[in-house]
Amino acid sequence: MSAQVQTSRKTVRDIAAAKGGTPLVCLTAYTAPMAELLDSRCDLLLVGDSVGMVVHGLPTTVGVTLEMMILHGQAVMRRSTQAFVVVDMPFGSYEASVEQAFLNAARIMKETGCQAVKIEAGEYAADTVRYLVDRGIPVMAHVGLRPQATNVDGGFKARGRTDAERNRTISEAVAADEAGCFAMVIEGVAEDLAAQITRQVSCPTVGIGASASCDGQILVTDDLLGMFDWTPKFVRRFADLRDTIGKAVDAYAAEVRGRTFPGPRETYALKRP
Ligand code: KIV
Repeated sequence: MSAQVQTSRKTVRDIAAAKGGTPLVCLTAYTAPMAELLDSRCDLLLVGDSVGMVVHGLPTTVGVTLEMMILHGQAVMRRSTQAFVVVDMPFGSYEASVEQAFLNAARIMKETGCQAVKIEAGEYAADTVRYLVDRGIPVMAHVGLRPQATNVDGGFKARGRTDAERNRTISEAVAADEAGCFAMVIEGVAEDLAAQITRQVSCPTVGIGASASCDGQILVTDDLLGMFDWTPKFVRRFADLRDTIGKAVDAYAAEVRGRTFPGPRETYALKRP
């Protein structure tokens, strides 16, 4: 008996093949309804650990747990069928050893059904990338500004301001690429550095605050939808949902207080036999 897996999802090959071609369209997704909306419009959906800040109100991504990532990963996988889905490995789930990284990455893959994991890759992480890839787990690396490292970096600061920092960012990117990551996020670097990394690595680069010189772009979906009062410089708001939602809720509240909602159309009538 042979079992054939039917899937129309993009694969790791489709993502890797985008190097130097039409830019990859990538967004974060944390919930089933949002995954359904984004699925056919994006090449890649990232269940980012930014979920901790965006959905759970945490001050940084450091407090995000493996269980949170699995829960959100499952929701996104349930309502997407086309986009390539990557789940972030949270802080503390992969840095201690390659074995720890493998066990937790395997758990994420098994329990969510996602296609790959992402890790924030300092130079030390190249061994982890190689270990996971060799054992069947596709890895997306994340270089430049690394939100999980804000406590050592002293905040969310763009990277590559000094020659030393610039060279380190390049080394991190090259090390992750040589270790076999299929793609990498570059966050918070100036255009010339993003362009140099994009030229130097063989995998596609996906920028966030890293200019149009990358092979693709990613944003936190809630940022582009205008859900927050404040957004970083690199975000363009393509909608103002905060205002739209505020006005809708004001209208609802006024109708409830004025007893005009619910009206006859929204009220069940007793049907007599
Ligand atoms: O966690 C996240 O959403 C991310 C993106 C911002 C790249 O890592």
